[in-house]
Amino acid sequence: MSLAPYHIGLETLNQEVAEANLALQGVLPSWLTGMLLRTGPAKFEVGEQSYRHWFDGLAMLYQFWFKENQIRYTNRFLQSGSYLDALETGRIYRGEFGTSPQRSLLTQLLTMFIDRPLTDNGNVNVTAIADQVVAVTETPTPVAFDPTTLQTLGNFEYADDLAGQVTTAHPHFDFKRNQIISYQIQFGRRSAYAIYSIEAGTKQRSLFTQIPVQQPAYMHSFPISEKYIILVECPLTVNPLRLATIRFHKTPFIENYRWHPEQGTRFHIIDRENGNLVNTCEGDPFFAFHYVNAFEQDGSLVVDASSYPDASIIHDFYLENLRSGTETSHKGQLNRYYVPLQGKSVRAEPLSDALVEFPRIHYKRCNGQPYQFVYGGNSQQSHNFIDQLVKVDVKTGAIKSWQQQSCYPGEPVFVAAPNASAEDEGVILSLVLDASQRKTFLLVLEAQSFEEIARAEVPHIIPFGFHGQFFEDITEPMSNHHLHR
Ligand SMILES: [Fe+2]
Repeated sequence: MSLAPYHIGLETLNQEVAEANLALQGVLPSWLTGMLLRTGPAKFEVGEQSYRHWFDGLAMLYQFWFKENQIRYTNRFLQSGSYLDALETGRIYRGEFGTSPQRSLLTQLLTMFIDRPLTDNGNVNVTAIADQVVAVTETPTPVAFDPTTLQTLGNFEYADDLAGQVTTAHPHFDFKRNQIISYQIQFGRRSAYAIYSIEAGTKQRSLFTQIPVQQPAYMHSFPISEKYIILVECPLTVNPLRLATIRFHKTPFIENYRWHPEQGTRFHIIDRENGNLVNTCEGDPFFAFHYVNAFEQDGSLVVDASSYPDASIIHDFYLENLRSGTETSHKGQLNRYYVPLQGKSVRAEPLSDALVEFPRIHYKRCNGQPYQFVYGGNSQQSHNFIDQLVKVDVKTGAIKSWQQQSCYPGEPVFVAAPNASAEDEGVILSLVLDASQRKTFLLVLEAQSFEEIARAEVPHIIPFGFHGQFFEDITEPMSNHHLHR
């Protein structure tokens, strides 16, 4: 089997490093103080067994602590239930996105009716709820950890019992209303999208509204505007009864879903004042993991997304395909959707040929508002993995980019300068694999020019991960206002 040049970014990392001072090339802005916390899949084998999908690997936490032109680095496995069960049994014990527990026939018979817990392998994102920092995946069981030591503290306990088996790893935080907004999907004979809020500083999910659904869609994230919550149902849907019993059967989570392009992609618009479903409208089928932003304009909503023509990208992300460098069938791009508040038809328009995957914006200032800049990853050469960072001006279509030979960058996290006057005044932080040097480095770009100002080599290869957040002030007890998104 041939191997992709970036395959070393998809191999297990076992090494844990504590408080390593990274050698820095370049100079950091004097205001850059705080902590970048990231998570990602890092362990792809348990005993003789292997996870199958990029989204499955057991989570590692990564911390980059910025202070006085220095970066201190620590990484540590998340001791989730999934991780501990795997270590204890020497097997893949809990099902993940694209991998089911692999059991012998005898074990299958003996354990047929044992209810295995859902995964809590928080390898997708880091966020904060109440006073705790948590690692999250797409089940409603965050895992809390100490941001300074990366020690796992255990499953986060909500102060309620809101039902639901699946959620998003991309909750929103509304800085005006001072609350988290998210949803859970409830599978059963009557399935529903249950949208909830959490007031800052509390652990109580308050049900805001429920939208009944017959065949729930796979939704990785969702956009909000100032007045509306938008749930976008790409036509990758599931018979809910298949997932209601997923703990007992052998098909991995995502392989229960089917692509139904004839349904188009549906947009549900929910009024944030009263929870009313204002409109449901439909456009041509597409698939997206990530919505960049949404805002109101001339009586309709504008929704920007990192879009793919269909959901085959999920198949492309099986480790076997990624490691061998199989060409992806379709390249994604940044699209704008005009979603009417009244009327049934959604119009799509490309904003850029670039993919702009793992999109980030100046969240605190621009989320839900008209905005100008999005940062993301693009695949310019291989069409199958991110080899370039881009900054797209969504007003003009102008692009700035960063790339380097044999380098594969990850999510570009925007950190605003204090009291920034311009939307793009700040820095971009991205982990980059240099495949020829066999090293990962943290890249720091000046966000306005998109030029490199510094980089710091990490003592090992960090497997490609997904998301992270910058916390401005880590020396005080954590709270949501420190979360700099
Ligand atoms: Fe994501």
